[in-house]
Amino acid sequence: MTSPAPKPRPGILAIEAYVPGESRLPSGVKPAKLSSNETPLGPSPKAIEAYKAAADDLERYPDGQASGLRKAIALRYGLNPQRIVCGAGSDEILTLLAHAYLGPGDEAIYTEHGFLVYRIAILANGATPVVAPEKDLKTDVDAILAHVTTKTRMVFLANPNNPTGTYVGIDEVRRLRAALRSDILLVLDGAYAEYVQRNDYEAGMELVSTTNNTVMTRTFSKIHGLAALRIGWGYCPAEVADVLNRIRGPFNLSSAAISAGTAAITDVEHMEKAVAHNAKWLGWLETEIGKLGLTVTPSVANFILIHFPREEGRAATDADAFLKSKGIILRTVGSYGLGHCLRMTIGTEDENRRVVAALSEFMGVSG
Ligand SMILES: Cc1ncc(COP(=O)(O)O)c(C=O)c1O
Repeated sequence: MTSPAPKPRPGILAIEAYVPGESRLPSGVKPAKLSSNETPLGPSPKAIEAYKAAADDLERYPDGQASGLRKAIALRYGLNPQRIVCGAGSDEILTLLAHAYLGPGDEAIYTEHGFLVYRIAILANGATPVVAPEKDLKTDVDAILAHVTTKTRMVFLANPNNPTGTYVGIDEVRRLRAALRSDILLVLDGAYAEYVQRNDYEAGMELVSTTNNTVMTRTFSKIHGLAALRIGWGYCPAEVADVLNRIRGPFNLSSAAISAGTAAITDVEHMEKAVAHNAKWLGWLETEIGKLGLTVTPSVANFILIHFPREEGRAATDADAFLKSKGIILRTVGSYGLGHCLRMTIGTEDENRRVVAALSEFMGVSG
């Protein structure tokens, strides 16, 4: 007789584990790694210094409230620190929100090519993911609203979205909020907010401040160059912050993360440098890759979605293999239903030029 094995809750085995962007090549050669939307400029030197200094106190538990970091974030953006909750990456905040507000029988909506962590977080809590179609790879507010049912409890919206790089203006976000029932939590994921240079864009701080059912999440992994340290935060209504603080790990950020994050958010000059670098090379890459006969979805973030022909020898998988042979790793996005595309993070000048040269060769365009 075999004894029954422990079983996970329903939904867990429907989850396909998140596959991060690749980082190594079989050859062992150090690649141009443009697969995870990390910044080519690295973190602020002040953040590195703060991280090193944290080595002096490793026997001590961190400040469980991450008070210094929350205060620094609040100061930077003019927010109430009581309503900021920090997490081990914004992934943790997204996961905690799903854990607190979703359960079996509930539905949560995300968009067709929305960030995959939403699906994982929804299923992990026994809830049902509902996918709203996008229009031309952009969020379609009406489609989201059309998918709301009496069971809907949450809507996740990455703005800008990963992996498309597209965004919706704040008026559309406000329209969405106004049309959603008040008991539906709207989660505005602004992982790439700092990069956006559009007059009609806002990450949603004002909406969070003026409603009791909207949360904005942000990260230190992208513009601040601290992906390795896992730092994210949510700006929440007071009631939601209270809920998250009850269920999060009591010391969910390390001391090194708190110190480095605090230094990073205060180094505005470094951040501005990263924004300027991104704006310059984003435009250049869109133009140069477009000249090769490839379509690039207009992006406001620190990455671009490149579309390849659906023909043998020219397809995204062929391009991926070719680029890897040249020491360049982009991100395959088949798991997002975009098997004919590759996502490229904006790199250093040298990396960007290398990608364009390699793609010219791949497409048979003489440079
Ligand atoms: C849209 C979006 N949200 C959230 C995250 C999570 O970032 P982190 O957990 O590193 O803060 C990412 C990372 O790629 C992302 O693309």
